[in-house]
Amino acid sequence: MAIAIPIQSSTSGAEAAVRFHGVSKTYRLGDVPVEALKSVSFGIPPQRFSMILGPSGSGKSTLLNLIGCLDRPTAGVLEIGGEKIGAKSDDELSEFRARKIGFIFQNFNLIPVLSAYENVEYPLVLLGVRPTERKRRTLEILKSVGLVEHRNHRPNQLSGGQKQRVAIARALVKGPTLVLADEPTANLDSQTGAAIIDLMRQVQHEHGATFVFSTHDPQLISHAEEVFSIRDGELLEHRTAHS
Ligand SMILES: Nc1ncnc2c1ncn2[C@@H]1O[C@H](COP(=O)(O)OP(=O)(O)OP(=O)(O)O)[C@@H](O)[C@H]1O
Ligand SMILES: [Mg+2]
Repeated sequence: MAIAIPIQSSTSGAEAAVRFHGVSKTYRLGDVPVEALKSVSFGIPPQRFSMILGPSGSGKSTLLNLIGCLDRPTAGVLEIGGEKIGAKSDDELSEFRARKIGFIFQNFNLIPVLSAYENVEYPLVLLGVRPTERKRRTLEILKSVGLVEHRNHRPNQLSGGQKQRVAIARALVKGPTLVLADEPTANLDSQTGAAIIDLMRQVQHEHGATFVFSTHDPQLISHAEEVFSIRDGELLEHRTAHS
């Protein structure tokens, strides 16, 4: 059962995995500034399964792109794992992203010519992990998402739910401290979507990473441990579920 707690409780304390201090993001559409995030301050607790809930245009992707170091704030300070992101160069941020952050996308983003196995193995190839270790880790993670038997299928030979399971395995294989998923259920029917969220939560518990996923679907609230509701670039509410 989710219980409302005051926003202040998520903004105090130093132990957050991700911390926003007055973070704003303003895009420019020609001469017109678009304030996608308006000085938000909050913390995302470590090793929890967190959900960013908000309607279309509320700033979910903007928030996740900042946490994923794919973009930088216009103002304010963002800390990840206690490190101030603004102090890092673009090269340092790329390195940080490659080692520490796993991404799961709405449209799966799998490489079509590679098998499920090769898609999952790919981040380890990029990180220079040796072949025997690569094989061990790839098979282990395919097992935790229930796809060992489908390992030789290419993405077009898999269902939407299976593609998203490959993407979850690919995000986790390098052992990231943070896993980010921007509307991972948007292209799935509601039953498959709920099953994918539950699988993400199960692997989150097994691997201990901090998970953050976004959705516009309030029906998924009961599947999350922490719910951050955003509207028009502002944090409305943070609820935490006590299990
Ligand atoms: N590159 C951009 N240039 C200009 N405005 C942008 C840009 N990206 C996003 N915006 C605007 O910023 C606001 C927040 O967008 P964002 O994509 O973060 O919302 P969202 O919650 O992810 O929406 P959706 O559920 O539709 O994906 C919106 O008003 C959007 O139009
Ligand atoms: Mg979005």
